[in-house]
Amino acid sequence: MIGHLNHVAVAVHNVRETARVYRDLLGARISAPQELPEHGVTAIFIELDNTKIELLEPLGQDSPISQFLQKRGSGVHHICLEVASIADAAEKLQQQGCRLLGADTPQIGAHGKPVLFLHPSTFDGTLIELEEA
Ligand code: CO
Repeated sequence: MIGHLNHVAVAVHNVRETARVYRDLLGARISAPQELPEHGVTAIFIELDNTKIELLEPLGQDSPISQFLQKRGSGVHHICLEVASIADAAEKLQQQGCRLLGADTPQIGAHGKPVLFLHPSTFDGTLIELEEA
């Protein structure tokens, strides 16, 4: 069902400071900061040849990243894997009893494409995002 690794998202306290370390220490290409209020994040993308690392910092009061940082500290927030069709993936996963987050209302993710999140308990604590490729 799954294809390429689309991105790894990392929750941090300050995207600008962390991105600077990736750039200065590792020579990484980094994007400008992007504010995505509808997702409650400010993001900087670390551009790799085959995938991206997304640094996420809380934006606004109800940011899911604030809760994550409080509960679990900074670190990997989710892994995003590509699928050909979100609708097909949702149907197959539901048939197998997989717990989906927000499956009733198809969501548009931070890249403007349909996404689906799978409950972290299914993967022993890792939040998985599926994105339509
Ligand atoms: Co993501």
